[in-house]
Amino acid sequence: MEKKKIYIFDTTLRDGEQSPGASMSSEDKLVFAKQLSHLGVDIIEAGFPVSSPIQFEGVKIISEEVRGVTIAALARAVENDIKVAYDAIKNAEKKRIHTFIATSPIHMEYKLKKKPDEVLKMAVNAVRYAKSLLDDVEFSAEDATRSDINFLKEVFLAVVEAGATTVNIPDTVGYTTPFEFYNLVKSIKEVIGDRAIISVHCHNDLGLAVANSLSALLAGAEQVEVSVNGIGERAGNASLEEVVMSINVRNDIYPFYTNINTKEIYKTSKLLVSITGLPLAYNKPIVGRNVFAHESGIHQDGVIKHKQTYEIMKPEDVGRSSSEIILGRHSGRHALKVKFKELGITYSSDEEFEEMYKKFLEIADKKKNVYEEDLLTIFSQNIDDSKSVYNLQSVQIISGDKLLPTSTVVLKKGNREYVESAIGNGPVDATFKAIDKIVGIKGIKLDDFSVHAVTSGKDAIGEVNLSIHSDNMSFSGHGTDTDIIVASAKAYLNAINKVLYYRNSQVNLP
Ligand code: KIV
Ligand code: ZN
Repeated sequence: MEKKKIYIFDTTLRDGEQSPGASMSSEDKLVFAKQLSHLGVDIIEAGFPVSSPIQFEGVKIISEEVRGVTIAALARAVENDIKVAYDAIKNAEKKRIHTFIATSPIHMEYKLKKKPDEVLKMAVNAVRYAKSLLDDVEFSAEDATRSDINFLKEVFLAVVEAGATTVNIPDTVGYTTPFEFYNLVKSIKEVIGDRAIISVHCHNDLGLAVANSLSALLAGAEQVEVSVNGIGERAGNASLEEVVMSINVRNDIYPFYTNINTKEIYKTSKLLVSITGLPLAYNKPIVGRNVFAHESGIHQDGVIKHKQTYEIMKPEDVGRSSSEIILGRHSGRHALKVKFKELGITYSSDEEFEEMYKKFLEIADKKKNVYEEDLLTIFSQNIDDSKSVYNLQSVQIISGDKLLPTSTVVLKKGNREYVESAIGNGPVDATFKAIDKIVGIKGIKLDDFSVHAVTSGKDAIGEVNLSIHSDNMSFSGHGTDTDIIVASAKAYLNAINKVLYYRNSQVNLP
């Protein structure tokens, strides 16, 4: 049977970035967009340019620097949004405007305060205007799954007539179910035929986003909108890795293929975690820490005899290594290079490798065994450090049961070192206060703070994720170390650096 190509439209940088705690700097977005293009996605939705100057800048930089993949920008169905979206993507090699308007009674009446015929007119005008600027136009009927089916068909027919090349059916509030969605997509496909690509965009409020997306593909959809690690509004979007691996593993049921190089999946997932600081559940399908680990005796016994007794896919297929090569303080540069190669960790010069090797030895000195996740941590730290305004040099705490703790922090900016001490209600509080004194930043508030161990054992690496509120936005920070105070300082500084980056990189809308 001939396999059908499914277009992977990645919205990690748009819908994903809209989720709390996931805001990224333009530089981070560019790094991630480059990785998405290695992964092999067909379309990168890079952002919503009219929504803020930083969004505009992110989309523009990606459009200018990432080649070989279509760059899409989101715009409401109004002329100014579309014009700004076009300005942001105009230098892309391949570009798409993605315009949308809601079609459900509840959205039209309460949110838009418009009658259906006005919405229909706005949709058509938006597509016509976008089409006057470029060829590749996608139209989305927001809240399609709670819309009147006849109205939905009328809108889709009209926008295709106006030039839309893709029509997207979003399950905006994650309300539909696989069987119902199959029927909806099939009846839209019957009306549209091959005049436009049918796309779907599913949210995960009931945990059905992946199942609904796969049903839609069986019903004739050819594009699926997904995000890495499933991040997105509320419960998130359909996860890229789950949709792609379902197609690959159950190709007997889903006779499709995608352009995704599945061996890049794990690296992409890790990169997103290191940029956003949003941790993954240990049991997150495909990319979670435990999904290829076997704990019970019966399972271990089965896997040793034949892997497929308890594994339906090979960890190597998603870029994970099945064997736990255990590195320690006696490992040399060669072993580390081999492991880096296996994990896809790259470095641009011998000096950069030396720096990473030094970091590896520091961890190996404190831990008996250094695992792959430790190495990926060292790698992500390495990325972060090079982009930071301030880098952490050291933290020293004095505390006791009768004294308030004092923290002394040394930060480096360029070639200069800055030292400050502060007293706080606890060692973490004192450390954050000392950092505040050096950076001299005003108007920030700590919103969220969580600690967990990313590796096992008494010498586990602690991971701190936090978010700070500043400039009416939330900035996440992520830090890891065997010392939890140092991990907290790194996480706090990571978030502060993002605020500084944001404040320095305001651009004016055209
Ligand atoms: O969920 C949704 O409806 C969206 C649209 C903008 C496609 O994200
Ligand atoms: Zn969405």
